[in-house]
Amino acid sequence: MHPLCIRFCALRRVNPSRDSGAGVIFTVAIDGPAAAGKGTIGRAIAARFGFAHLDTGLLYRAVGAKGGDPVQAAQSLTPGDLARDDLRTLAAGQAASVVAVDPEVRAALIAFQRRFARADGGAVLDGRDIGTVICPEAEVKLYVTASAETRAHRRWLEVGGDEARVLSDVVERDRRDSERAEAPLKRAADAHVIDTSALSAEAAVAVAVGLVEAALARGRG
Ligand code: C5P
Repeated sequence: MHPLCIRFCALRRVNPSRDSGAGVIFTVAIDGPAAAGKGTIGRAIAARFGFAHLDTGLLYRAVGAKGGDPVQAAQSLTPGDLARDDLRTLAAGQAASVVAVDPEVRAALIAFQRRFARADGGAVLDGRDIGTVICPEAEVKLYVTASAETRAHRRWLEVGGDEARVLSDVVERDRRDSERAEAPLKRAADAHVIDTSALSAEAAVAVAVGLVEAALARGRG
């Protein structure tokens, strides 16, 4: 079993804050390009419905940051690797998208993500291939997007530096993520599109919450 699974699956079983979702297999899959607002929406949905949340981008960032053989890094990733404080930089994002092209790296991380998605209690995962590859059976699929300029501006507010450089970084990463052969970034046919270009974070979260509530109500049928 992957080292991440041993730790995260145990945490899911004992986390008392997740009691409200116990007995539910329900996955919210959130995909979209860099800095579109996937994380903000994912965290808000997880908090609102008592679901577990996995930022899958962090897995690839941690693999890229570890250095050495990326396949070995992916196979041996530990919770400590995900806790590094240098994973949010532009450089870590670029390194992540380079290792993410490798099918063997992706394969090493699939089982953990699938188990997380379908574990008892409900889960939200955000990334690039959640609705298409990791969990095509997800009860709710969201494709969160925004113009490249809007996304770069948001990322620039977080990381600072030269805004034009942040924009070219975002565009380059989107291109690599969309054009790769294995699990490219693309909207699942049944995903709801949320364009956050002209939405506040609160408004975007409200749209997503409405879609999850509707799906839960259909499930209770
Ligand atoms: O979401 P975030 O920007 O942290 O992701 C970093 C990189 O990890 C992405 O640019 C992408 O190359 C890769 N990634 C991926 N599949 C995912 C999540 C992230 O390929 N499910």
